[in-house]
Amino acid sequence: MPEKPLLLLASAFTYRAKAFEDAAARLGIPVIRGEDVPPPLIGKVNRPLPVDYRDIPRSAELIEQFALTTPLGAILGLDDSGTLIAAAASERIDLPYNAPEATLAARDKHLMRQKFAQAGVPSPKFHHHFLDEDIPAIAARTRYPCVIKPTTLSGSRGVMRADNPTEFLARIARLRAILATEPCHEFLVEDFIPGVEVALEGLMDYGKLHVLALFDKPDPLDGPFFEETIYVTPSHLPADTQTAIARVAERAAAALGLVTGPVHAELRVNLDKTNLPNFEGEEGMFMPPSPSKFGDSSISSSQPIMVEIAARSIGGSCSKTLRFDLDTSLEELIIRQAYQLPLTNHESPPTATGVMMIPIPRTGLLTRIDGLEAAARVPLITEIEITAQLNQRIRALPEGDSYLGFIFARGDSPSAVETALREAHSLLKIEIIEEFEFL
Ligand SMILES: Nc1ncnc2c1ncn2[C@@H]1O[C@H](COP(=O)(O)OP(=O)(O)O)[C@@H](O)[C@H]1O
Ligand SMILES: [Mg+2]
Repeated sequence: MPEKPLLLLASAFTYRAKAFEDAAARLGIPVIRGEDVPPPLIGKVNRPLPVDYRDIPRSAELIEQFALTTPLGAILGLDDSGTLIAAAASERIDLPYNAPEATLAARDKHLMRQKFAQAGVPSPKFHHHFLDEDIPAIAARTRYPCVIKPTTLSGSRGVMRADNPTEFLARIARLRAILATEPCHEFLVEDFIPGVEVALEGLMDYGKLHVLALFDKPDPLDGPFFEETIYVTPSHLPADTQTAIARVAERAAAALGLVTGPVHAELRVNLDKTNLPNFEGEEGMFMPPSPSKFGDSSISSSQPIMVEIAARSIGGSCSKTLRFDLDTSLEELIIRQAYQLPLTNHESPPTATGVMMIPIPRTGLLTRIDGLEAAARVPLITEIEITAQLNQRIRALPEGDSYLGFIFARGDSPSAVETALREAHSLLKIEIIEEFEFL
């Protein structure tokens, strides 16, 4: 008997859907896309399942009605808004998924920090504010360095470091402009967590975390803005630090109630004990039982600290870096789990892989990208994918919400992969006309 269809929920702009569609095809599972359609057009457009991503209860209802005539095998939310609808709809039609409250906590940075605090998961001290509060008063009482971040954006949009009250005021002015077109008017002010950053890709199974890959982010992410660039796996961190990272990520998932499906967690580990903030006795800083560990001279005793955890897989096209046993993709593992099909061995092969999310160097009109062929010829480079459109306006961080594209590499060692990514990137000549030149 053919499998019941898989419903994929992702915004029209996602890079992720194709990989899920390919994986489903490989498993012989039909796919239906729940497409985001403006409310007045729902019922009028000729699409299998149009939904309104801003209205989660209504979308869940539409999916429930649809499932009466087309029973669904599973629902997967591919991006942050998709996970909320997937959870609400799965609950209505009794499909296994995370509870709606859990996906909400993974989406809302304030709720997340509160849940981490309640559960004692290591996470920075934070304060929650609204844009209409007395900002100079907040600037005066904030501890520096701090990180300012909107509660519900993603891709580092609007995330900014401030080192003093003057910078704080300037950053909030910028945040105000970014949020002017968003439904979000809240932000967090957090202690800046020093250290290196890693991204953990995992699959939750009955509350247990299976680590699929741990990526190092070798470019320093010290601000003022936090542009993602290179991800390389396997991580060079010592085995016991990696174990500690997995343990903290699993506790973070449990704190939010994420029990099934993919998770993408970001953590920081301070390898430089001279640069440690004073955690002890701080209200709102939730440390493990023995903060004295911070005095330990060995690297491996560094305590991983949660930046965030999302109830979805890695963003952009980055999952292409991952291949598991029998050439299984990350997406295939996720679908297999959702359909309760046997999971293949999810050990990654022993090669190193990496991706560079090509940063947008400045805001303006993208007119040319040269050097693609030379960059593609760099040894170990497996693919270069340009996702930005020529002759379109592109925006750099903290306002921007996309990348120029992705460079992929594969090799024998993480450092060789990293070098290849940097070399390929250095060969790209990106021409952007600044706005004052064309306005
Ligand atoms: N408290 C913090 N201390 C240091 N860096 C931070 C902190 N919060 C966020 N960052 C940096 O900003 C990046 C984006 O912040 P994050 O909370 O993950 O938001 P987003 O949802 O936009 O990815 C993180 O990957 C990290 O590099
Ligand atoms: Mg993040």
